[in-house]
Amino acid sequence: MVGLHSFNLPYFIFVIRVLSCIAGSHASDQERKIYVVYMGNLGRTEQSSPAYHLNMVKEVVDSRFRGQSLVRSYTRSFNGFAAYLTHEEHEKLARKEEIVSIFPSTTLHTQTTRSWDFMGFDENVRRNPTVESDMIVGVIDTGIWPESESFIDKGFSPPPKKWKGVCKGGQNFTCNNKIIGARYYKSINPSKEDSARDSEGHGSHTSSIAAGNYVKDASFYGIANGTARGGAPSARIATYKVCFPDSGCQSADILAAFDDAIADGVDVISISLGMAEPVKLERDVISIGSFHASQKGILVVQSGGNGLSRSPVTSTVPWTFTVAASTTDRAIITNLVLGNGTTITGKAVNGYDSMKKSFPLGYGTEVTSKCVPPLAQSCSSNCLDERKTQGKIVICSQYGGIVEVSRVGAVGSVIPARSPDVSYVVPLPASGLNAQHFSDLQRYFSSTTNHTVNILKSDAVKNLDAPSVASFSLRGPNVFFPNILKPDVTAPGVEILAAYSPLNSPSQIPQDKRSVKYSVLSGTSMSCPHVAGAAAYVKSVHRDWSPSAVKSALMTTAWRMNASKDPKAEFSYGTGHIDPAKAADPGLVYETLTDDYIGFLCSSGYNSATLSKIFGQSILCPDKNVSKDLNYPAMAFQVMTTKTNSTPFSAEFNRTVTNVGSPNSTYKAITSTSTDYNITVKPSVLKFSTLNEKQSFSVIVNGKISDRGMLSASLEWSDGVHNVRSPIVVYSVDV
Ligand SMILES: *[C@@H]1O[C@H](CO)[C@@H](O)[C@H](O)[C@H]1NC(C)=O
Ligand SMILES: *[C@@H]1O[C@H](CO)[C@@H](O)[C@H](O)[C@H]1NC(C)=O
Ligand SMILES: *[C@@H]1O[C@H](CO)[C@@H](O)[C@H](O)[C@H]1NC(C)=O
Ligand SMILES: *[C@@H]1O[C@H](CO)[C@@H](O)[C@H](O)[C@H]1NC(C)=O
Ligand SMILES: *[C@@H]1O[C@H](CO)[C@@H](O)[C@H](O)[C@H]1NC(C)=O
Ligand SMILES: *[C@@H]1O[C@H](CO)[C@@H](O)[C@H](O)[C@H]1NC(C)=O
Ligand SMILES: *[C@@H]1O[C@H](CO)[C@@H](O)[C@H](O)[C@H]1NC(C)=O
Ligand SMILES: *[C@@H]1O[C@H](CO)[C@@H](O)[C@H](O)[C@H]1NC(C)=O
Ligand SMILES: *[C@@H]1O[C@H](CO)[C@@H](O)[C@H](O)[C@H]1NC(C)=O
Repeated sequence: MVGLHSFNLPYFIFVIRVLSCIAGSHASDQERKIYVVYMGNLGRTEQSSPAYHLNMVKEVVDSRFRGQSLVRSYTRSFNGFAAYLTHEEHEKLARKEEIVSIFPSTTLHTQTTRSWDFMGFDENVRRNPTVESDMIVGVIDTGIWPESESFIDKGFSPPPKKWKGVCKGGQNFTCNNKIIGARYYKSINPSKEDSARDSEGHGSHTSSIAAGNYVKDASFYGIANGTARGGAPSARIATYKVCFPDSGCQSADILAAFDDAIADGVDVISISLGMAEPVKLERDVISIGSFHASQKGILVVQSGGNGLSRSPVTSTVPWTFTVAASTTDRAIITNLVLGNGTTITGKAVNGYDSMKKSFPLGYGTEVTSKCVPPLAQSCSSNCLDERKTQGKIVICSQYGGIVEVSRVGAVGSVIPARSPDVSYVVPLPASGLNAQHFSDLQRYFSSTTNHTVNILKSDAVKNLDAPSVASFSLRGPNVFFPNILKPDVTAPGVEILAAYSPLNSPSQIPQDKRSVKYSVLSGTSMSCPHVAGAAAYVKSVHRDWSPSAVKSALMTTAWRMNASKDPKAEFSYGTGHIDPAKAADPGLVYETLTDDYIGFLCSSGYNSATLSKIFGQSILCPDKNVSKDLNYPAMAFQVMTTKTNSTPFSAEFNRTVTNVGSPNSTYKAITSTSTDYNITVKPSVLKFSTLNEKQSFSVIVNGKISDRGMLSASLEWSDGVHNVRSPIVVYSVDV
């Protein structure tokens, strides 16, 4: 299943739904569900046409069902289809030679812009709006709110000539010279009223972060007031709506969006969606779609995923750009003033005005007439009594309790923070406290019978600790490709103000009747479009760069993060925090081309026959294992020891860099030093005399894995002007 990667819902609403699509479940074998049939690269025309797909379906499907069976045909950018099939029919189809993979379509969910100034990418950065306006960012999401100020087309010329897309946004959806394309895909319960209009807010938010206009004085009820803008404000947006409130985001539809976006001619795709857990690439529509995009020169940026559990980063393939989420120097807090005069700082985005006076606190048995104390204390649903909560601020021992407090119409609520480092929009005056503060509050509550509290409106405060990776941002290592470091980079994804849909309440809780144009969301969903916007900017400066060159530029110029601050170090943030202005002039790039991917996939266990279909050319896998020698801007190697039984290792990485800085330049290798390892770079000086000249080198690391299970080192190529930095990570199987 796939999910939207933002995180504004109370966690209990955020449970991952598994459709009845797990093979071998109790569902009847005769039950029809949507399967995605992936057939690789576009083949000969007659084999990648809807008619051909229909024929394939007819061969296996009972004549009574044939008419409605085929749901989608992918024929523009790669070959495949989606169809309603029974388990038995799917097995018959799977035997066909031309199929690469066949898998049930699953449901994915979605997981101001102070953030740009924070990374030194201010409004005065060198940019060429005319060139930038040729950039098209494709956003695969919940749609867009076309009337938002972030998307008006004042000053925009007609779409660039290369644009081959359409405006098929459905009912009451008009494109303009900013939103130049719109499509929507709904294979489950489609209706005439469907459109590309965003009713959830997520897609408008991500679109405006990537490429929204400059909008002055944007704020959430005055909080985080400032100029909202995207990373590439002059770029165009093409919206591909694949998520709907009733049916989630279907894999079959996401693949259709990729099929169109690639053929429509977008430059960058931003997709803040992901599977709930890592899925092998041949069954992951985002990996498949991104692969074909990369073959056509389109960079796909994906959110790394959110979770409070230990589940690993879900975006794993080397051709997608995987983004973690981190804080900026602006944090949003909500203060409480206790009746005894003490102020407690909590985490919440409280858009309600500060209370004019204190209100009595209510907790547990005081506010219920039917529930046992533990249920009353947690404000479980239908536990609170409206009469007993009137005029009170209700304490709940669980974050989700605020939904019940909203239902009974109490004055406010105090809850434990949903996350120690993130403020979420609350549906009534409320603040979330950390464990220490929450127990202080409980102590205050029992210390007096006259316990009152005043909840103040949120403030934005300076966060001196930034950037640090958010607790919800999923970490590596990479479960499928252990020698590819994931996530690739981090970018702002905490408390981001951006455009929203006025149809959804900002807290996403039904009792909250507010409607806003800008709202605050957190998630890797928000960090992903920051990188997509930055990539569009870099691409506008270097029109001829491959997706891997753009990605390398953003990776090797990233800010160094403090490895000792985060237990997972590079597994949390990859090469570091993006620095878009620097990325326009990286000096050297690590380019990864088709042949590199072929060798890499062969080493990863895909055979020649499968790869021939995926690449659409005859492929013979080499014998040599090059799994850690993919020309990637980061170097990672998993050694087969455990951290408690660590034997010395030696790892060699081979890489090739391309000179994109000054024609005549000399780069020296600078490596990090430690008593834990030795690094040798051969050669340690690279001399270039022309642009686009390539030079190869190898890096040999000798050392021992420490108790931490990983060693963090780095290699930097420096010509005195450019510093081209790659992390080197060697880790044990039980890191
Ligand atoms: C189209 O949508 C906008 C925004 O919701 C709304 O203001 C307008 O009334 C709608 N027009 C029609 C004809 O439905
Ligand atoms: C935002 O700031 C501007 C300028 O400082 C001010 O004019 C405007 O009223 C503020 N808006 C809100 C909603 O506070
Ligand atoms: C309760 O506390 C409030 C605030 O501290 C105070 O103003 C009020 O007089 C107190 N009431 C009683 C009955 O003690
Ligand atoms: C108010 O109560 C809290 C919790 O019991 C306590 O930590 C704090 O010191 C008290 N403040 C004053 C001024 O007494
Ligand atoms: C890195 O973090 C550690 C632990 O928080 C801190 O002691 C150290 O000063 C930090 N280093 C830098 C360069 O900020
Ligand atoms: C290549 O090496 C990696 C470990 O470095 C291993 O996981 C993989 O299975 C190897 N590939 C093949 C085809 O043996
Ligand atoms: C790396 O390069 C060195 C010399 O350039 C070569 O000897 C070695 O075999 C290469 N290693 C791999 C794994 O390709
Ligand atoms: C290239 O740089 C070297 C010094 O690094 C210098 O001696 C040489 O003249 C330069 N060549 C050109 C063509 O600029
Ligand atoms: C690094 O190299 C030095 C000198 O050859 C050697 O003494 C030391 O043991 C090496 N350290 C490690 C961790 O291999």
